[in-house]
Amino acid sequence: MKEYIIALDQGTTSSRAILFNKKGDIVNIAQKEFQQIYPKSGWVEHDPQEIWSSQLAVFTEVLAKSKTKLESIKGIGITNQRETTVVWNRRTGEPIYNAIVWQDRRTADYCAKLIKDGHLEKVQQKTGLLIDSYFSATKIKWILDNVKGSRKLAERGELAFGTIDSWLIWNLTNGEKHVTDVTNASRTMLYNINDLKWDKDLLELFDIPESMLPEVKSSSEVYGETSIELGSRRIPIAGIAGDQQAALFGQMCTKKGMAKNTYGTGCFLLMNIGNKPVKSENKLVTTIGWQIGKEVVYALEGSIFIGGAVVQWLRDELKIIKKSSEVEALATSVDTTDGVYLVPAFAGLGAPHWDPNARGTLFGISRGTTDAHIARAALESIAYQTHDILKAMEADSKTKIKELRVDGGATENQFLLQFQADILKSTVVKPKVTETTAMGAAFLAGLAVGFWKDLNELQAIWQEDKQIAPNKTLKLSKNLEEWNRAVKAVIYWAN
Ligand code: G3P
Repeated sequence: MKEYIIALDQGTTSSRAILFNKKGDIVNIAQKEFQQIYPKSGWVEHDPQEIWSSQLAVFTEVLAKSKTKLESIKGIGITNQRETTVVWNRRTGEPIYNAIVWQDRRTADYCAKLIKDGHLEKVQQKTGLLIDSYFSATKIKWILDNVKGSRKLAERGELAFGTIDSWLIWNLTNGEKHVTDVTNASRTMLYNINDLKWDKDLLELFDIPESMLPEVKSSSEVYGETSIELGSRRIPIAGIAGDQQAALFGQMCTKKGMAKNTYGTGCFLLMNIGNKPVKSENKLVTTIGWQIGKEVVYALEGSIFIGGAVVQWLRDELKIIKKSSEVEALATSVDTTDGVYLVPAFAGLGAPHWDPNARGTLFGISRGTTDAHIARAALESIAYQTHDILKAMEADSKTKIKELRVDGGATENQFLLQFQADILKSTVVKPKVTETTAMGAAFLAGLAVGFWKDLNELQAIWQEDKQIAPNKTLKLSKNLEEWNRAVKAVIYWAN
């Protein structure tokens, strides 16, 4: 009988299930989108029941598509949109409020007050994070402060909090297990990444009863088995990692100094910094990459809010292309941007600038500027933003990045990859399997159940599709300097 590992990838816009065989090949994928709920400006919610039902639906669909029985599944790996917060009643299993999504900004004022009151340093030292509404802690507090009767229930131990991994496992095990892993815990702003414990001071600061929190486990172990309701064969749930950390593992960035960038709507860059956390002096966050056995690997992370989304903007708003795939031809129809720079700060600037007020700006337009120059500047802006984060990572970690492993939709774009390599003066490497998030979760689960033996075996599975070497004859320092000036001007204008 053929054997498989299944990865459940619960993302921000869709739930996916991906079946991997022993060679690490994708056998099949099932995907289902679900509703985005925007109750007010800046608020983003999901229906936790829809998250669960869509995840279950793709789980069964991928098995049916592959004509595979539950018996053939040796383990489940879970990977998920991080920080998104669910609070539910332990007795009924019913959520008491919608999931508050990582993008939701409703607690931004409260976070600003915490910073003003001088809590930044302590929070960063304990959690590796910067105080921001992005992380779970203030979302949990908001629910307890705003859902009638919830604080009393929480104090009596009747409520459970979880990031999406916990919520899925609770449901997969029919309420038997309330667990998470270190990577997801490290995104809550309640978990001490030095002691590897929920932090009592922070629980007090945010007024959150400890009884609500899941038990924190490693990223690769058997946490429990699926309940009998899901089918007569119980499957071990054996891997958990937040999606960006899963991608770091799926890209096999297992040595200190290795880094990956996922080019999605935004971009998420993570760099393996080894077994000790490093405090960022450059506004990056320190997070847990994974834990296997007793070994904890830390990572530096920086996110770019507008990455591939800049191409959607060219398509949907400027309407200078009809399909995203047309952008490359348009951008390469000219040799340079002719001095045009686009800083796509449409939703503020993320790392390493962190300016919520910044807005998108085009610089250097002349009488001869065409849509092609703007398209090229848009693609270059993704690479420049990536460059800025990688330089911050190199400074914080005191390690030079030799190569950048890349994945995500925009890596189809040859021009972008070449410009990325040129501007970084480093090699860019694209793997054969670009579903690195799901692959990472599958790897973690497969290791725990002995489907794969060790890291060496996984390293042999990870295969490079192509390497893009930097063109060393190009002199781009003037471009970088002009880009920096543009970013500075954007920040100056906004404040
Ligand atoms: O931190 C948020 C991140 O985990 C979301 O990832 O891929 O669902 O947009 P994604």
